[in-house]
Amino acid sequence: MDPSKDFLCIGHRGARGHAPENTLLSIDTGIRMGADMIEFDVQRCVDELVVIHDPRLERTTNGRGRVRDARFDDLRRLDAGQGQPIPSLREVLELAEAQVALNIELKSADGTAALVAQALRAAINDGWGISQFLVSSFHLPELYEFKQMLPEVPVAALVCGVPLDWAACATELGAQALNISAEFADPRLIADAHGRGLKIYAYTVNHPEEIAALRDLGIDGVFSDYPDRVVSMLAG
Ligand code: G3P
Ligand code: MG
Repeated sequence: MDPSKDFLCIGHRGARGHAPENTLLSIDTGIRMGADMIEFDVQRCVDELVVIHDPRLERTTNGRGRVRDARFDDLRRLDAGQGQPIPSLREVLELAEAQVALNIELKSADGTAALVAQALRAAINDGWGISQFLVSSFHLPELYEFKQMLPEVPVAALVCGVPLDWAACATELGAQALNISAEFADPRLIADAHGRGLKIYAYTVNHPEEIAALRDLGIDGVFSDYPDRVVSMLAG
């Protein structure tokens, strides 16, 4: 991620508008389209950290049941769309090879933070830059736990709504950013986040006019299923 950039293009679940979400194909597509950062969702199965959004398998794969009850070997046999398997976090790190920033969203809260911290510590030892990671979650206590274990890696508090105390939760977490749902891009929330020295990113924005409007409001970047649209808009 280039910290000097004033508006970040963040590929949502890779490039979900172009390829099956949260697959290596989707993540690779987002990288090729020029996203500054790729967002994907991580949760625990029985024996691995896997990249999948829902707690259940039905919507995005041809499997059934809960992700947390499955073994990785069994998840591997499933089709997550266009013949793509469900990837592990490890595989995403190998694919991205430190060439793009990654926003890892913690979806499960049963020790996921500890396992992700362990994986990122190993990745940093392998050459990843600390600022190439942004770890986020709606589950703020899980994110807090991550921050205690790997304080040098930036985190972002995820909220869906406008908190009563504005961006205070992000400050309390020692976060670098507040990630909000675009519909709640209240100018007072944006001003409060900036006043606290935070970046503020909005999800999920696919229409060029809306991307431009959020940038004009002072939002620092957007998550999009179509990172190519953000890149085109920024190019002019
Ligand atoms: O991290 C931004 C966005 O991905 C949060 O919502 O449901 O798409 O994971 P969701
Ligand atoms: Mg997500």
